[in-house]
This record gives sequence, C-alpha cells and structure tokens, in this order.
Amino acid sequence: MRTQVAIIGAGPAGLMLGRLLDLAGVDNLILERRSADYVLGRIRAGVLEQGAVDLMDRARVGQRLHAEGLVHEGTVLSFDGEDLRIDFTALVGRQVTVYGQTEVTRDLMAARPDRVIYEAEDVALHDIDGAASVSWVQEGVARRIDCDYIAGCDGFHGVSRASVPASAIRTFERVYPFGWLGVLVDRPPVSRELIYANHERGFALCSQRSLSRSRYYVQVGTTDTVEDWSDQRFWDELRHRLEPTTAEAVETGPSIEKSIAQLRSFVAEPLRFGRLFLAGDAAHIVPPTGAKGLNLAMSDVDMLAEALIGFYRDGSTAGLDGYSARALSRIWKAERFSWWMTNLLHAFPENGPFGRRMQRAEFDYLAGSRVARQSLAENYTGLPH
Ligand code: APR
Ligand code: PHB
Repeated sequence: MRTQVAIIGAGPAGLMLGRLLDLAGVDNLILERRSADYVLGRIRAGVLEQGAVDLMDRARVGQRLHAEGLVHEGTVLSFDGEDLRIDFTALVGRQVTVYGQTEVTRDLMAARPDRVIYEAEDVALHDIDGAASVSWVQEGVARRIDCDYIAGCDGFHGVSRASVPASAIRTFERVYPFGWLGVLVDRPPVSRELIYANHERGFALCSQRSLSRSRYYVQVGTTDTVEDWSDQRFWDELRHRLEPTTAEAVETGPSIEKSIAQLRSFVAEPLRFGRLFLAGDAAHIVPPTGAKGLNLAMSDVDMLAEALIGFYRDGSTAGLDGYSARALSRIWKAERFSWWMTNLLHAFPENGPFGRRMQRAEFDYLAGSRVARQSLAENYTGLPH
C-alpha cells in the first residue's frame, strides 16, 4: 500500500488536514487509535475564531456551523464581581463563533467517512528520515503503508512526537498549579456571552454550546478528582465565584458530563523531522483560558496543507521547509495570550497579596484603556493564519 500523506490521529487537526488534501487531490490516509464514537464522545472547547470558521468554509463543511453556531460579538471579564465587557466588534471588527469541537469533528467525519481507519492499534512510524512508512494492527492483522510524508496529528500523548529522537527536539513547558473542573448541563446559558471570572476563591467560566446547553468551569486543585465534586458542590462553588445577580440566574441541573483537565502550556520545536510534520496538540498545548487549542490546531493544518499541496502542485519544497518556523511564530503568540489570560484570571496563592494586586491593576488598566482592550480582542478573536 502507498499513499502520499499518512496522517496519524483523527481529531480536528487530522480530519481537517485530510479534508483539505482531499479537496486538492492529494492522496492521504488517516490512522486513528480510537473508534469514531469515542472520538465524538470527548467534550472539548467550543469557541471558533473567524480564521477557523473561514477554514471550515474553505473545506466545504461550514454549512451546519453557520446554521447552528452562535456568533458572539464580545465577552465579559469579571473581577471580584465587577464586570467588564470586551466588545470585539467595536474594538477589532471581528467576532467568534460558539460551536463545539465535537460538532466540528462530526462535520469533518461526515465529509470523508471511508478514508479514516479507526481502531488502528500499535501505530508506529518508520524511517522518518528516509523512505517513510507507517505500520499498525487492524483487527489483529499487521498492516503497513509507504508514504511521502507523515503528519503527526495525534495529540499530546500520541506516538508521533514520541518517535523523534530526544536529541532532535526541544520542548518548553509550564504546568500550572491547578486544573479546571467542567460541567455540561442541558440548561440555557446564564448569559448571552461568555463570562470569565476572577474571584478570590479561584477562576470560574460560564460558557455554552447552544441556546439550551451550557458549559461551566471552576478552578480546582491539582489533586482534586471528579468524585470530590458532587453536582451540588459544583453549583455552590460556581455561584460563589460569580457576581450575585449572575449567580442567582444560573440554571442548574444534573450534569451530563463532568471532567477535570490540568492546565499546561507546552511547545515542541521544531515541527519537522525529515518526512514527519507535527500539528495540533501533538506539537503544543495551551491552557484553555483563551480558547486557543482548537483554533491553533486549525491554523497549523491550514499552513501544513498549503505546504503539502504546493509541493504536489509544482514540486517546490519551499512551503514544507518553511512550515515549522511559520507555524511556530503563530503558535508562540497564542501561547503568550493563553498564558497571559491564565495569569490574569486564576487564583495563585503562591503569588500572595502582591500577585493579586497586580491582577487587579491589570483588570483596571483594561477597564480604562481602549488600546488594552483592543489588544485582548485582537488576540481572542484570533491573529491571522
Ligand atoms: N495512534 C493513532 N491515533 C492516536 C494515537 C496513536 N498512537 N495517539 C493519539 N491518537 C489520536 C487520539 O485518539 C485523537 O483522536 O489522535 C487524535 C488527536 O486528537 P486531539 O487530541 O483532539 O488533537 P488535535 O486534533 O490536535 O486537536 C486539538 O483538541 O485537545 C483538544 O484543546 C485541544 O481543541 C484542541 C484540539
Ligand atoms: C468551553 O466552552 O468549553 C470553553 C470556552 C472558552 C474557553 C474555554 C473553554 O476559554
């Protein structure tokens, strides 16, 4: 068997890359360790930058997104119960669209159902500096495919980055001393727009998936488990951290999903090793505070697809040679923004009262400076691809 591009992982990065290559006539095959149902069952973030929306359109999978996605013209930051609205439209003339990653994945899956091999076990990369190939086990049978290039889109714990010799890769990491406990509930959102709240007891976020489904988060300790958090405890803590009228308006209900995610910033450099390219969570992790994870995965594969398509169109490797530096330049800016928003909004007891005053000063500066708000809005709605 032979293909032009073997893609590892059928998350949003791998599926979008496969779709863009398909549309350009570049042959590819996606190998995914899990089942399609498992992939669709993972609850992830749900805010799309305009660039990601445009990419969905270019991939001709934007129909449902436009019908069902909620366009948000701003967001609210709250500090000790004091609200500050960031008006994206007025500040930068751009918006974001609330549409779950699960839905993005579903739309991409529907566009190319037979080019993905699900439940591919023991995926292994071979000879990435030479005649590249990928092997896997499918229903107990060993298989192998030769390829020109491999795209590692297999997330943070995937096999692609792990296949690179340690001496060839440099990683940069910051693990934050807390996690987010998230609850999904079939109740209308408390507010039309997202609310990011900094409270003495810790961060809280009011988000949404639709007009009838909400997603809420509270900052929790690194050793907390889902079992420590009954629904009642979660709702009490969330309300505690919100401004009182908002707190009262939260419609609670039985959680339909509850999970804890550690917050981490991580970047691998470079993103190319011979015939292997990394994209999405395989290459980097952002804390969820700026909703950049899915959007970065989209901009990475936009650039990678352009480079691969350029190569097959006119034989030029310029795009492929430039991919790593080009993608990393945008990745680091999104890393900076996510790190900054995380620092602004969470409780860091180890930073003491001085740290809290710094957060307060930052919030007051935002409240008083259009330029500061504009910078926030520019980054939140997304830098150009
Ligand atoms: N072999 C094959 N597939 C694998 C392997 C492996 N060894 N390891 C992981 N995978 C698969 C996972 O099962 C998953 O479906 O790779 C896929 C990676 O998908 P994601 O983790 O969703 O990563 P990505 O596509 O880069 O999307 C990034 O996901 O984690 C969120 O916040 C992040 O929204 C961002 C988005
Ligand atoms: C979410 O809806 O899950 C969400 C929204 C915004 C974020 C993070 C997560 O910054």
